[in-house]
Amino acid sequence: MGSLDSPRERENGNGGCRSPGDPKVGEGGMIVVESEAMKKRRASMLPLEVGTRVMCRWRDSKYHPVKVIERRKMPSSGPNDYEYYVHYTEFNRRLDEWVKLEQLDLDSVETVVDEKVEDKVTSLKMTRHQKRKIDETHVEGHEELDAASLREHEEFTKVKNIATIELGRYEIETWYFSPFPPEYNDCVKLYFCEFCLNFMKRKEQLQRHMRKCDLKHPPGDEIYRCGTLSMFEVDGKKNKVYGQNLCYLAKLFLDHKTLYYDVDLFLFYVLCECDDRGCHMVGYFSKEKHSEESYNLACILTLPPYQRKGYGKFLIAFSYELSKKEGKVGTPERPLSDLGLLSYRGYWTRVLLDILKKHKANISIKELSDMTAIKAEDILATLQSLELIQYRKGQHVICADPKVLDRHLKAAGRGGLEVDVSKLIWTPYKEQG
Ligand code: ACO
Ligand code: ZN
Repeated sequence: MGSLDSPRERENGNGGCRSPGDPKVGEGGMIVVESEAMKKRRASMLPLEVGTRVMCRWRDSKYHPVKVIERRKMPSSGPNDYEYYVHYTEFNRRLDEWVKLEQLDLDSVETVVDEKVEDKVTSLKMTRHQKRKIDETHVEGHEELDAASLREHEEFTKVKNIATIELGRYEIETWYFSPFPPEYNDCVKLYFCEFCLNFMKRKEQLQRHMRKCDLKHPPGDEIYRCGTLSMFEVDGKKNKVYGQNLCYLAKLFLDHKTLYYDVDLFLFYVLCECDDRGCHMVGYFSKEKHSEESYNLACILTLPPYQRKGYGKFLIAFSYELSKKEGKVGTPERPLSDLGLLSYRGYWTRVLLDILKKHKANISIKELSDMTAIKAEDILATLQSLELIQYRKGQHVICADPKVLDRHLKAAGRGGLEVDVSKLIWTPYKEQG
């Protein structure tokens, strides 16, 4: 599977890209003299309106379609010197960025979109989930927001606020907006203590903090240790500030997820790589203490320097091991992000194929669900996408020819990190007092 972040791999060559070439060299190598009219036309477009669709040169040196999301004046500059915050319409929002005018191909400007009309349409298209997400990010209650507040929220979160963070030995570029408290509005970089996750505006503040901070691992109980990997369970009620800091940090990499200020209701499972300097956070998942929708995971994150090494699937596997200990089936909270879906699909596929192979497919969806703690709907969807389901006499039946199974197993490859259940020391959450 190609990288979701690389249009070159995703688009299979140059699909969707266009290279305008040198505007002064015409077809057959003829030198084209730019007419006054063309120059005038370009100048009349500037500065570009928010909503404009145009081609933009990306880091692969190719041109991709973008939509202008925001513009800002460059300091000490002429009347038309703006930078533009653009969204590459073919790619995920995490690639949105500020670009200079030189990167835009003005000859490709399509239309000037009436933002007001467009916003109205998109807000009407919002699903219940999206609305809920926004409710919870914005206000404490769960009331539905009207279209105007929804638009205000979109407006507020459309441009990334923090560009980079320092965490432990890594400097990490962020992906999305995160609603840090207003006093951080003027920061483009934040410095995190990698242990207590407090964040600061300046490096010196962090250095001072590190001399005083006595944490060397997440607060809470170590519930799993295997080699250098440890998992800590942090109760949001007992460690409120840590829980909130973790949410602020995580939101920088999660787009369609809620930021819960009410961390009391959650447990955080923080995965660390440990050495003699301490336990360094690799990723985490959060879990509601009580979920009416049988969610066994609310948010999951692998920090970018640790991604694509199997930690995501380890965290997913861990969430299902907890569900097994609770004697419940579980499912991740929706919506899933692109990378979230990919990781879950990969996990479900491997787990289910392994069992089908052992049982020669002679097993029901209910039995699979009991064995794996994966919710029946997720099992059905996975097996349907693998074309291993037939609908007979009003029932879904698993039909897996051994050859087909082998082919799928081969395509799925091997999973990486396994959860060693014998090393998990944990009892399900019980309200105290
Ligand atoms: N491009 C293409 N494939 C990718 C990419 C990528 N950038 N990143 C991961 N994958 C694939 C891997 O190849 C692997 O595929 P496989 O199952 O075929 O082997 C699968 O995704 C999982 O890879 P892992 O290494 O196990 O996962 P990782 O540690 O990278 O973490 C995660 C996955 C947690 C989704 C990570 O990408 C992340 O933190 N993303 C940002 C936050 C996010 O989107 N979280 C999910 C939101 S949904 C929810 O919270 C319920
Ligand atoms: Zn600290």
